[in-house]
Amino acid sequence: MKKIKNICCIGAGYVGGPTMAIIAQKCPHINVTVVDINEKRIAAWNDENVENIPIYEPGLPAVVKEARGRNLFFSTDVDAAIDQAEMIFISVNTPTKTYGMGKGMAADLKFIELCARQIARVATTDKIVVEKSTLPVRTAEALRSILENTGNGVKFQILSNPEFLAEGTAVEDLFAPDRVLIGGDVETEEGRAAMEALVEVYANWVNRENILTTNVWSSELSKLTANAFLAQRVSSINAMSELCEKTGADVNEVAKAIGMDSRIGSKFLKSSVGFGGSCFQKDILNLVYIAKSYGLDAVADYWEQVIIMNDHQKSRFAATIVKTLFNTVSGKKIALLGWAFKKDTNDTRESAAIYVADYLLNEQAEVVVYDPKVTAAQIFADLDYLGSRSPEENRRLLKVVAKPYEACADAHAIALLTEWDEFATYDWEKIHTNMMKPAFLFDGRGILEELQLEEIGFKKYRIGR
Ligand code: NAD
Ligand code: UGA
Repeated sequence: MKKIKNICCIGAGYVGGPTMAIIAQKCPHINVTVVDINEKRIAAWNDENVENIPIYEPGLPAVVKEARGRNLFFSTDVDAAIDQAEMIFISVNTPTKTYGMGKGMAADLKFIELCARQIARVATTDKIVVEKSTLPVRTAEALRSILENTGNGVKFQILSNPEFLAEGTAVEDLFAPDRVLIGGDVETEEGRAAMEALVEVYANWVNRENILTTNVWSSELSKLTANAFLAQRVSSINAMSELCEKTGADVNEVAKAIGMDSRIGSKFLKSSVGFGGSCFQKDILNLVYIAKSYGLDAVADYWEQVIIMNDHQKSRFAATIVKTLFNTVSGKKIALLGWAFKKDTNDTRESAAIYVADYLLNEQAEVVVYDPKVTAAQIFADLDYLGSRSPEENRRLLKVVAKPYEACADAHAIALLTEWDEFATYDWEKIHTNMMKPAFLFDGRGILEELQLEEIGFKKYRIGR
């Protein structure tokens, strides 16, 4: 079996950056080059001050600092990195299609295809190509067809190695993954050798019992399945949260009671304003599309309901704000604490905050946002992308501030949308004093429970109670 000495990763995003940084740190004998067409992103990864790397992820700067320049490199020279590597990870984005066939559902594979064509064009030696991006089941077939029909007679092995890290805990997830999944051509000796080469890389720090090898289709489909199951749990508990509000049950108590059943388990039962993030929605829509394309309408409808429930939870939360504020928020200042889709990340893709803000802006509220890690430029980009109103209008109606107390001063209501730890450390008495009365607080994350804010005078709404 060929020993891997040079790895190339195409795509320096939330997955490519952290996964390759950890591989480089744990495998000092392998040169790892992460390439991207986004020059700004690569420049940020190479920033002298390691705190300025383009994604906020606890623990990552230290890992990058150790490996960068030693055996971890970030570059825009995609061709050179492909040429040198024996193993190439494709870690580019696979967003939901916004045009044509499968619009709004299918995964857009154009970036994947471009990578495959570039690899085929550049490669002069045999390569192992690893799908790191989340892909529809049977994408490896398309990759193989492109690589084999347009290449220079070079031999390619295609592996699927989906990533299961969660943002905000990426470093710990990568250090100690529950499992590493490697799918490949189990039928041939070359296929098995390629899989073993990748197993060898991970075995530098992951127990072999935790490295699963499967056929390539199982691996591709397992990734979509894992995300669908996780998201389904959140939608399930969110569905119960609405029923709790009507019946006097408390969703936290229900979650605890069912979570102690070892068959159910306690994780992913936190009721919230709705799940966000770049993948849950995209991957379920993709799953629904695949099921439909095989004529499996019952399967498709089953999974689509997870998304429908999530959309309902987001708009239900925003509608509760309007209803509680005497059926109108027009001209009222509403402070949004948190914009990221979860704590400890600066990623905002599909964040519930975007939809809550949009709803409130439609109701003519004056929205003021504070998030400890998300820039104003990103917040406006997210809103502009929705296309509900002009960019000028968004900037007129919504303000982004750098201090939480400024966001809350004179507000009629506060909506807490991300579970940042710092929110629980604020001087809530001071915040209450400076607000309009009654001072409404809508906790979309249930992180202020212990603070007894009702005693200070807040009128508090918590999901699921
Ligand atoms: P991202 O958008 O942060 O990064 C993708 C990068 O690929 C971008 O920087 C883009 O410029 C680059 N790129 C696109 N086409 C390119 C090309 N032809 N050549 C060079 N660079 C190119 O995306 P991400 O969040 O890192 O996700 C990547 C994949 O991993 C997706 O399929 C996603 O579903 C999957 N995934 C993401 C997560 C997560 O937590 N974000 C977790 C598991 C899996
Ligand atoms: C998720 C999966 O957890 C990862 O395993 C997967 O690799 C990744 O998607 C992916 O494929 O991109 P991520 O989206 O980063 O990771 O974060 P999660 O912790 O899963 O949270 C997703 C959303 O669900 C967040 O908005 C979070 O606040 C929400 N959530 C999560 C809840 O509302 N309640 C919960 O109990 C758990």
